[in-house]
Amino acid sequence: MNQKTAVVTGGGRGIGHAIALQLAQEGYALAILDINDEEKIRDNLEQIRSVNGNLFYFHGDLGCSQDRITFAREVREKYGRVDVLVNNAGVAPKVRADLLEMTEESFDFVIGINLKGTFFLTQAIAKDMLKAKAQDPAFRPVIITISSNSEYTSSINRGEYCMSKAGLGMMTKLFADRLAGDGIPVYEIRPGIIRTDMTKTVSEKYDRMISEGLLPIRRWGEPQDIANAVSALCSGKLAYTTGQAIDVDGGFHIRRL
Ligand SMILES: NC(=O)c1ccc[n+]([C@@H]2O[C@H](COP(=O)([O-])OP(=O)(O)OC[C@H]3O[C@@H](n4cnc5c(N)ncnc54)[C@H](O)[C@@H]3O)[C@@H](O)[C@H]2O)c1
Repeated sequence: MNQKTAVVTGGGRGIGHAIALQLAQEGYALAILDINDEEKIRDNLEQIRSVNGNLFYFHGDLGCSQDRITFAREVREKYGRVDVLVNNAGVAPKVRADLLEMTEESFDFVIGINLKGTFFLTQAIAKDMLKAKAQDPAFRPVIITISSNSEYTSSINRGEYCMSKAGLGMMTKLFADRLAGDGIPVYEIRPGIIRTDMTKTVSEKYDRMISEGLLPIRRWGEPQDIANAVSALCSGKLAYTTGQAIDVDGGFHIRRL
């Protein structure tokens, strides 16, 4: 297939949907792995289909080994090769509990999807990218992981989420190191506070913190802010870089006095 292909996990809504739509607008055929029922996100998927028509939606669980294997195989069969992998799907703990009360069940749930699922899907797709590169040395795929400012910021009532995102930071460096010699750059985007369903339940708290000056750029981030950063990383203009983390967070990461 001549059209470039992008895989976006969790592309059904929120940040993932904005990324998928952006890449569709740039001409990519899309493959989305998401646990959402297709019915629930029909409008979002239609929006992507209306751009260039080429969307493969796979209803599955990133945390489930069999779903990852089946998804990767079906993407291979349908599109042949993957130009861009965006690891976006992620979950917060179902209950925000103090670190001393965190359950093993919640730890396994969050780490199993955010870190283990993302690692093994990346491993599978990276192997496919290497095979495609062996056939066509000009092929220039890229891998991008959406982690979080929680990678380096303590929230003691969702420690499992912070640990999963810290793990993705190291995962990025590891894949960047392993794949650099093969010409596959690997990046990480660390969003700050982005307006999506994930932050809806704590929006009043963040409204207050932002108005009180938490962020140097005094506004919420929007999913499109992350989609624009993905677009820049896919542009091929950063050819002598790999392993970077880009903070798309209104300056949250800057220490201030
Ligand atoms: N919203 C923020 O402020 C913020 C900040 C930092 C990082 N992030 C990260 O950005 C990513 C997207 O977040 P969002 O705010 O759009 O969240 P969201 O909850 O709105 O969307 C997440 C998407 O991932 C999918 N998903 C969840 N579990 C899945 C699974 N097991 N298998 C497959 N798909 C699954 C969901 O169905 C959904 O479509 C996440 O990794 C999140 O941790 C978000």
